[in-house]
Amino acid sequence: MHFVALDVTTESADELREMLTAWTRAAERMTYGAEAAPGGAVGLGPYGVPTDTGEALDLPPSNLTITIGYGPTLFERFGLEARRPDALEELPGFMGDDLDPATSGGDICIQACADDPQVAVHAVRNLIRLGFGVVSVRWSQLGFGRTSSTSSSQATPRNLFGFKDGTANIMAEDTAALDEHVWVAPSDVSGEAAWMAGGSYLVARRIRMHIEVWDRTNLQEQQDIFGRGKLKGEPLGGTDEFETIDFAAKRMDGEPAIPMVAHVRLAHSSNLGGVRILRRGYNFTDGSDGQGHLNAGLFFIAFMRDAHKQFVPMQRALAAKDVLNEYIEHTGSALFACPPGLGPDEDWGTQLF
Ligand code: HEM
Repeated sequence: MHFVALDVTTESADELREMLTAWTRAAERMTYGAEAAPGGAVGLGPYGVPTDTGEALDLPPSNLTITIGYGPTLFERFGLEARRPDALEELPGFMGDDLDPATSGGDICIQACADDPQVAVHAVRNLIRLGFGVVSVRWSQLGFGRTSSTSSSQATPRNLFGFKDGTANIMAEDTAALDEHVWVAPSDVSGEAAWMAGGSYLVARRIRMHIEVWDRTNLQEQQDIFGRGKLKGEPLGGTDEFETIDFAAKRMDGEPAIPMVAHVRLAHSSNLGGVRILRRGYNFTDGSDGQGHLNAGLFFIAFMRDAHKQFVPMQRALAAKDVLNEYIEHTGSALFACPPGLGPDEDWGTQLF
């Protein structure tokens, strides 16, 4: 995954709209393995400036997907005020946040995912190049090994704490749950904000994981923190990864099998009045921190119908009580409104304006 947050530097709405239209064509081309624009890396001859940077020339499309989103700050300009959906409000601060403004926020985001990192980086780089003079990079993040499974055909991947991640996620096959928790319904938005119907809000949190401390923790404590077994991912007190969690199960000593402050108990919909989200995060390691520790963690990405009704209560519950907090630190945060998919004659520019 290559994720980038951009600030819009132009004051011209026309330039912004034209860039979004150019992005649409380039994104479409790159997802089927073509160069970002006609002409490409060498086709304009020795005196032309290449319209593609070239590093993906011999590579297949690699299942590239490109998602874009708009931050709340974008709508303060360009006459877009009335088009801002009400739910696109900055996230509040949470207990324990240690956010760096240099890795938070942004007017626009691009998330490119591919089987080959070079293809994802190529896609983001070429969109940035097309946006020269219109947008500038605010922060970016590379990630690997998608941590959350999002389809029942996918074996559950593991995060950098070694646990299966995504077991209880909303799966792509569960269209009723997607409609209820992930896609913005037409009734959620009205008037000029109706363009967002069918879209989804993206919450990004850069979460540093103190893996050296974790690696000195015994297995039982690790399992108690999540409330699941490390090898199979079964809920503590149960046997199978995908069985329904029994929060009433007791250990031999009469204590709850899943501790009251375990991550899955606090994040579970039964603790949150039915709230769920679709998690789609990635692992990251950004070198080391100069103090002998890897600068590693989880680039948490989640999609939902309304971040203030879903992510906010969930993160409040986790921030207040989750024992996992001893091992993690939220260092970046952003909220974006991702527009719905485009029809054949549509593009991001005309969709937004
Ligand atoms: C479940 C890891 C942060 C929401 C889980 C599970 C693991 C895990 C191992 C159990 C397997 C599963 O069902 O996916 C982590 C790690 C985190 C982190 C390592 C930080 C570095 C968060 C955050 C949120 C969140 C910030 C949302 C605010 C959830 C939810 C579940 C879950 C909703 C499913 C609970 C259920 O219904 O059983 N997480 N998580 N997690 N996590 Fe996290």
